[in-house]
Amino acid sequence: MDESLRQAALQYISEAAAYIRTEMKKGYDVDTKANKDDLVTTVDKNVETMFQEKLAQDFPEHRLMGEEGSFENIHDLDGTVWILDPIDGTVNFVHMGTGFAVSLGIFQDGEPVFGVVYDVMNDELFTAVAGEGAYLNGHALPNVPDRTLSGSLISFNTGWVIHNEKYRELVDKVRGTRSYGSAALELAYVAAGRIDAYLSLRLAPWDVAGGSILVQEARGLVTNLNGEKLDFLHKDSLFAAAPTVYRDITNHLNGHSS
Ligand code: IPD
Ligand code: CA
Ligand code: CA
Repeated sequence: MDESLRQAALQYISEAAAYIRTEMKKGYDVDTKANKDDLVTTVDKNVETMFQEKLAQDFPEHRLMGEEGSFENIHDLDGTVWILDPIDGTVNFVHMGTGFAVSLGIFQDGEPVFGVVYDVMNDELFTAVAGEGAYLNGHALPNVPDRTLSGSLISFNTGWVIHNEKYRELVDKVRGTRSYGSAALELAYVAAGRIDAYLSLRLAPWDVAGGSILVQEARGLVTNLNGEKLDFLHKDSLFAAAPTVYRDITNHLNGHSS
């Protein structure tokens, strides 16, 4: 990919993070969207506006698909499309002041070319250029480890696990479960080998666009829960894991012993 494009994306993310940190000290407005737990703040909206303005100025032929409104103009992935979640983990942002990320995936004719997940408060920058491996703060990440299911840590939203017997059984089979409240960070953690799988019943393209390429570039697998390729235009389930754990969870969910 074009180095100037990569540098520009990293510069915008750095500026967005500086803005987020400043607003956290000053205070911001919180609103709800689809339901009382679906939070959005003025910071989410302003970060997306910032990217819109940057693209219009520096890359006028590129298009932005962002969670806070700009997705409405995007119906295909032709050309260069930036898929942005200005703050992934807004509930963490509002309640905890940490545990959230700026997530960006750049796509060219539907294929991911660059992914970034930036953990703003912990200053952890996860990046991956397609075909060049995944990096954390400029250091190459090793391939994800081959773990057994019984020795793995897996992450998902406990809210839906309690309603599904197959997933409850899975909890008993693994070493431990985690739930971080930011899909982008959970994908980055799979890429970094901190957890071995992340599963979700429903996510949007902006939740996964940055993180999924990180996982692939660290030799992990990413599909929906039916084992199909992600299409980045629609909401879908998500299943990201180290290959051995992906295989064992798939066998478990399909009723085969592992
Ligand atoms: C949410 C987070 C969360 C996931 C939700 C997403 P948001 O994104 O990624 O972990 O479980 O489905 O909507 O709203 O904080 O950008
Ligand atoms: Ca999100
Ligand atoms: Ca968001």
